[in-house]
Amino acid sequence: MQEQELSLIRLFEEERPRVHCALERAVELLPAPVREIGAYVLLAGGKRLRPLLTLTASRLLGRDDPGLYRLCAVPEMIHAASLLHDDILDEADTRRGRPSAHTRFGLRPALLAGDAMLALADCEVTVFGKTEMVECVSDAMMRTVAGEAHEIALQGSCSHGEAEYVEVVTGKTGWLLRASCRLGALYAGADPRRVEALSDFGLYAGIAFQMVDDALDFADAAVTGKPCGGDLREGKFTPPIMRYAGELDEAGRAAFGEKFASGSFSDEEIGRIAADIRERGHDAAARSLADEYLHRAEACLALLPEGPELNVLREVIPFIRDREK
Ligand code: IPE
Ligand code: IPE
Ligand code: MG
Ligand code: MG
Repeated sequence: MQEQELSLIRLFEEERPRVHCALERAVELLPAPVREIGAYVLLAGGKRLRPLLTLTASRLLGRDDPGLYRLCAVPEMIHAASLLHDDILDEADTRRGRPSAHTRFGLRPALLAGDAMLALADCEVTVFGKTEMVECVSDAMMRTVAGEAHEIALQGSCSHGEAEYVEVVTGKTGWLLRASCRLGALYAGADPRRVEALSDFGLYAGIAFQMVDDALDFADAAVTGKPCGGDLREGKFTPPIMRYAGELDEAGRAAFGEKFASGSFSDEEIGRIAADIRERGHDAAARSLADEYLHRAEACLALLPEGPELNVLREVIPFIRDREK
């Protein structure tokens, strides 16, 4: 790497073509019947935050070679598969501004394509010959599933609080960002203290990432590429919705709770509540909650060596906090 200071955004731009190549190669390894769906979700769009974290973690700890690109495709495959499955679970028909995979290709082929991508991610990580890396990937998949399942169990409930919400997002999003960092650190053969510091950085950054995502649920769909107010429709009691419900009077809360539980808000009601949430700043307040986790993430960086890559990780923090899509 060059000694000049790296900026996260520049790194995104510079690395995008090489990450894309690694993903193209991965798509070729998918079974033919699901390859088109794999290409649809892996090769079109996405911020590529997870592969960038893997690359940066490994380079920070002293290893940078072409094998790293093959490795960084692994968390992105898990990410894409989990989004594909998530859109089925959430009945979301838009992703990245276009039809979600199951809307475009049908539910059953999409489901199987997601399974194949997860299996391929597993296969691909074994080529590096490190049990800890395989374990890291399996843990991340398991925790993501557990987080999604926990969320489904809570669907429509207005009676749980922030602590249980944090548990859900730690599983469904935190663990994969953790794995993205940890894989890079393990690939570099770093000492255990540094592996753990980077893993914790990823975990906290991931929790904050989802919290900001839940604030962005009330942003303009044309900017986010996802439907506005999806969490209201899907019965997910996220922090902006918790704050909104908390300000209603008793009768209002009962009426809200009923519709939230049955998922029966009209489009007009969703639009009105979303506008209310924005006006009252409940989405901004949810970003402040993310700040707490971003501070924890930042504290983990103190255990890591100085250098341009550490600056990239420092920049991940405002990137997550301020992101608009
Ligand atoms: C979206 O993740 C799903 C969450 C975990 C919140 P990203 O916002 O990283 O999705 P892409 O890959 O950039 O579309
Ligand atoms: C994120 O969950 C998806 C996973 C972590 C698997 P959400 O359902 O909140 O994310 P979006 O809003 O669909 O991207
Ligand atoms: Mg979803
Ligand atoms: Mg979901």
